[in-house]
Amino acid sequence: MMFYVLNGSPRKNHNTAKILNSAMEGVRSLVSDAEFRWIHVYDYSYSGCVSCYGCKRIGGTYYGRCAKRDSITGLLEDISQGDALLIGSPVFFHDLPGQLRNFWSVFCTRISSMDKRTLRLRRSASLSPSSIR
Ligand SMILES: Cc1cc2nc3c(=O)[nH]c(=O)nc-3n(C[C@H](O)[C@H](O)[C@H](O)COP(=O)(O)O)c2cc1C
Repeated sequence: MMFYVLNGSPRKNHNTAKILNSAMEGVRSLVSDAEFRWIHVYDYSYSGCVSCYGCKRIGGTYYGRCAKRDSITGLLEDISQGDALLIGSPVFFHDLPGQLRNFWSVFCTRISSMDKRTLRLRRSASLSPSSIR
């Protein structure tokens, strides 16, 4: 089973990565054939959804796909064909960091316009560290 591990923190090896690693070890202990692919969203350069509606235009070139071409276009396809998604995010001003919010806006737009028969992804979990003790 392919698990995508999405690290929404700009710091690759800090708190968010630590809780994602713990979750990954938990999954590994339960799922013998689990494979993991890490994605550090700050490694990529992209924008959020630009509301072009290309993915919604029936009969258009990009119907059911993101019309915006950038460094995460392929990743959106890959994740939608994974078995599960683990999302880790720090809290930045009571919200998601901007880079993760942009990723999420295109990912949600992408899967909401897909033919669900071609969507493999069925499970996701989100985790977040907080500075509040
Ligand atoms: C710009 C910024 C804003 C933050 N805002 C919040 C916040 O609103 N609430 C909170 O609990 N922690 C906040 N934090 C703390 C981070 O969420 C916390 O340190 C987290 O563990 C950072 O994750 P990382 O170690 O993976 O980078 C903020 C940190 C930064 C850098």
